[in-house]
Amino acid sequence: MIVSTQALFKHAYGRYAVGAYNINNAEQTMGLFRGCMESRAPFIIQISKGARAYTDKRMLEAMIRAAAEIFPDAIFAVHLDHGDEATCMDCIASGFYTSVMIDASHEPFEQNIAITRRVVEAAHAKGIAVEAELGQLGGVEEHVSVSEDKAHLTDPAQVEEFVKKTQCDSLACAIGTSHGAYKFSGSQSIHFEVLEAIQKRLPGFPLVMHGSSSVPQDEVARINAAGGALKGAKGVDETQFKRAAQLGVTKVNIDTDGRLVWCRVHREHFKEHPENFDLRPPGKVFMAEYAKYIAHKNEVLGSAGRLDEVRAALSRR
Ligand code: G3H
Ligand code: 13P
Ligand code: ZN
Repeated sequence: MIVSTQALFKHAYGRYAVGAYNINNAEQTMGLFRGCMESRAPFIIQISKGARAYTDKRMLEAMIRAAAEIFPDAIFAVHLDHGDEATCMDCIASGFYTSVMIDASHEPFEQNIAITRRVVEAAHAKGIAVEAELGQLGGVEEHVSVSEDKAHLTDPAQVEEFVKKTQCDSLACAIGTSHGAYKFSGSQSIHFEVLEAIQKRLPGFPLVMHGSSSVPQDEVARINAAGGALKGAKGVDETQFKRAAQLGVTKVNIDTDGRLVWCRVHREHFKEHPENFDLRPPGKVFMAEYAKYIAHKNEVLGSAGRLDEVRAALSRR
């Protein structure tokens, strides 16, 4: 069942975070649904601009509709990840997305407000929620690459004005994480003091944490042992998610970890079976391993086991 992102946030706020997982193909979609069903968790499917262009945006929509039929118990929202204004407008017009993210965080403050406001007006007219971003994460995203020296944390002093002027429904905050497999240098970690200051100014308002892959070190070691060259890859400490959830983080974005599972499975498969050339054997292993990863992630986010509570809460509305 496709539900609004805001309904999921309302149930989760202050207690747990909902996993927001990016998909690009059928194997990821199956693994994601299986993992969420095994762990009985609500979830958010994220589609980036790059994912929409990889095969065809209609292919992804059709796969998601099919998955909803295959897994009738699943409760999830469909979200555009890191949209520019044109992509947001396209998703709003499609009627398929329950929320969009407008990422104008690389623009000056006033310009970010103006662009976000335009998207909010179009989205709200169709009952679609909008995630906006203030502050800038490091790493590479779809339409912008941010070097570490340009990345900057969200300024808590700006959040109330930003939310009031844009009327966005959730806020992605830069609190020390970054996109990709190379996060943090040294002992750097999530800036909980910034998150706490933001929550004080926006009590009850859903916050979003991007760049939240944990880059499991056993995955990295296995990839490297099977011919990969990921040196110094590092991610977010997953034991910190529950504390972040208590401070208002209701959505945690994860993409890179899924790519690492994919990479490990395929590297190991073809290393162990150099005579193979069929896509299905490693594809089957990937779906099972990705499902296992997702179920584990939902446990650490606190969303595992919430499905029936969420269903009951939705039916009371
Ligand atoms: O934050 C970006 C997401 O990981 C999406 O990545 O634009 O390569 O699909 P992508
Ligand atoms: P990761 O690169 O840490 O998986 O972050 C994904 C993300 O923020 C998608 O918006
Ligand atoms: Zn992101």
